[in-house]
Amino acid sequence: MSNYHIKNLEEYFQVYRKSVRDPESFWEEIAEENFVWQKRWDKVLEYDFKRPEISWFKGAKLNITENCIDRHLYANGRKTAIVFEPNDPSEMAEHISYTELHDRVCRFANVLLNNGVKKGDRVCIYLPMIPDLPVSLLACARIGAIHSVVFAGFSATALSSRINDSDCKIVITSDGSFRGNKTIDLKGIVDEALESCPGVETVLVAKRINSEINMKESRDKWLQPLLDQASNECEPEIMDAEDPLFILYTSGSTGKPKGMVHTIAGYMVFTAHTFKNVFQYRDNDVFWCTADIGWITGHSYIVYGPLINGATTVLFEGVPSYPDYGRFWEVVEKHKVNQFYTAPTAIRALAKEGLQFSESHDLSSLKILGTVGEPINEEAWHWYNDNIGKKKCPIVDTWWQTETGGILISPIPYSTPTIPTYATLPLPGVQPALMDENGNELKGNLVDGRLCIKFPWPGMARTIWGNHQRYKDTYFSTFEGYYFSGDGALRDSTGYYRITGRVDDVIIVSGHNLGTAPIEDAVNEHPAVAESAIVGFPHEVKGNALYGFIILKETGESRVHDNLRKEINQIITEHIGPIAKLDKIQFTSGLPKTRSGKIMRRILRKIAEKDTSNLGDTSTLLDPGIVQEIMKESL
Ligand code: WTA
Repeated sequence: MSNYHIKNLEEYFQVYRKSVRDPESFWEEIAEENFVWQKRWDKVLEYDFKRPEISWFKGAKLNITENCIDRHLYANGRKTAIVFEPNDPSEMAEHISYTELHDRVCRFANVLLNNGVKKGDRVCIYLPMIPDLPVSLLACARIGAIHSVVFAGFSATALSSRINDSDCKIVITSDGSFRGNKTIDLKGIVDEALESCPGVETVLVAKRINSEINMKESRDKWLQPLLDQASNECEPEIMDAEDPLFILYTSGSTGKPKGMVHTIAGYMVFTAHTFKNVFQYRDNDVFWCTADIGWITGHSYIVYGPLINGATTVLFEGVPSYPDYGRFWEVVEKHKVNQFYTAPTAIRALAKEGLQFSESHDLSSLKILGTVGEPINEEAWHWYNDNIGKKKCPIVDTWWQTETGGILISPIPYSTPTIPTYATLPLPGVQPALMDENGNELKGNLVDGRLCIKFPWPGMARTIWGNHQRYKDTYFSTFEGYYFSGDGALRDSTGYYRITGRVDDVIIVSGHNLGTAPIEDAVNEHPAVAESAIVGFPHEVKGNALYGFIILKETGESRVHDNLRKEINQIITEHIGPIAKLDKIQFTSGLPKTRSGKIMRRILRKIAEKDTSNLGDTSTLLDPGIVQEIMKESL
C-alpha cells in the first residue's frame, strides 16, 4: 500500500508541494498503486464548489469489500483481521481471520438479500461493539446497500428520526448490550423507536446478552439461525465510484441532524491512505482505535482504513473504567497493541485516576499514539506522552470531521516534530485556508481565523441525504469557493495549525458533537419551560459541559427547582441521549436578546465560563439590565 516514504520534514514539504501543484496526479498515483478496481476511472476529479458537486474517479467500477477482504485471502487469509475484546475481561477474546471475515460477511450479505434488501436501499444499524457490527457494514457494502449506523447510545426518538430521514426498511440490532457492569435494553429502544417508523419491515436481532425480549411476529427475526442457513459465498455487487457507501448523521448548529453521504471510491482511497501514513502501519502491527463504530472515527479507522490495508484491528466492546481504570492498558498489553488511537476526554478521565493503572501494565508494544475529536489540552498531552508513550511514541493529534471522511491535518510520525495542542501540518493533498470574518483568506503565518479547505480531497462527503441545499448552505456558502469546517484555527510562525474549537453553535462534549438547537427543542417540551438557551463551558474531563439558561412559565405554582432539573434532563435523555444532559441549569426571568429577538449567546457563554470582566458590546440588547440579573444568579 502506498506510502509517502517521508523521512523528515524536508521530504514532507517536497511531497506536499508536489501534491498541491498537481493534486489529480497525486491522488491518481495513489489510487493506481494498490486497490482492486473492476474498471478504471475516466476522470480523476471533477468539481465545482459553487453547486457544489464533487466526483472522484468517475467512471470507475469496484466493490470496497473486495478491497477490504477478498484480495487479502490468498496471501493473508489466516491473518487476524479483527480482534474482538469483550466488555468482560474474563470472556475470551475472539480472533477473526480474513478468511472467516469473508465467510461471515458473505453469509450476512445473503441474509440481507434474502430479506429483500437491494442495491441502494438504506439499512439502519443499531448495534453494540460486537463483531456483527463491522460485519454488517461490510455486508451492506457487499451488496451495494447503504448503511446508516446509529450510535447505540442514542435514544429511541433520536433513532426513529434517523431511520425516517433516510427511509430505512430494515434495522439490525441486538437483544441488548453490555456496558461496564450494566446492560442496556437495545431491543426495547428499537421497539419504541419503530412505533413511529412505519417504513421498517424487518428487524434482524443479534443475540448478545441473552435477555428475554419481545419479538414482533413477522417483523423481528433472530439473526443467528439465518446466518447459519445462508451461503458463505456472495458475489460482490459491482458499484460505481460515486455510488453512496454510507450515511452517517452528525449534529448541526440548527435543525435536525445532517445525514452526511460518503461515496465509495474516494472514501476508500482516502481512508486507506491516511490510515497507512498517519499511523505508519506495518505488516504485522496491531492497531487499536477506541472509538465506537457509531461515529466516523470508528467507520474510517476501525473498519475501512485498517481492513483495506490488510491490518489487524481491535474491536473493543467495553469502557475504559471497567473493571477498573487500567482496562485500556490491560488490553494494550494483552494484544500487544502497536498503534493506539483515542480521544482527549478519555485521556483526561484516566489521568485523573493516577498512575498505578498504567504502571502495572507492559506498554512496550506501543509505537504511535493518536488523539482525535476535540482539542487536546497541554496537560493531557504530556500525561499521554510521559506515561503511556514513555516519551518514545510520536503523538498524532489528528484533526478531521464526519464530513471529511478521514484525517486532514496531522503530524506524520518521525517526520513532523510535534508540539502539544498542535495538529501541525496538512497531509499531502490537503489545502487548508484561514479566513477572516469578511471572507478574505489570511495569507502568511501568525494568523487566526476560520478553518476552510480550498480544494477537494477524495474522502469528503458529497451531500446531505435528501437535502443538497443544506449541504451547500452549511459548508460552501459562508466563504465562496471554500469548504467551511465550522472550526477556528491559528497558524503559528512556522505554519503549524492549532485548532481552537468550534465557531458555531456546535458544542463538543466528551468528544461528541452536540447542536444546541435540538437540545433546546427538547428542553422546551417540558410543560413548565417557556424558553431556553444552552451554551458550553469548560469542563476538566469532558472538555466542555452544557449550561442551560431556562425561563419558566408563569403558572403561579411553585415547583422545586431540583425536581425540575431532573425532569428536564430526563426529557433530554429521551429525545437525544444521556450524553446531552445539562451539567448546570439556571432558572432566569429573561435572556439577553437583541432588538430583533436574537439571543446573544456570546454573553451567556461568558457567564457560563465565569469570564465576565469583559462582556463586549451590550448596547444592542433590548434590556441590558437582564445581564446583571443573570450574572448575580449564575451557578
Ligand atoms: C473537533 C471526529 C481539535 C472539531 C473525527 C471538528 C478536533 C469536530 C480534532 C468533528 C483535533 C476533531 N483537535 N478539534 N485533533 N479532531 N476535532 O464529526 O471541532 O465527530 O469539527 O469527527 O471535532 O467531530 P466529528
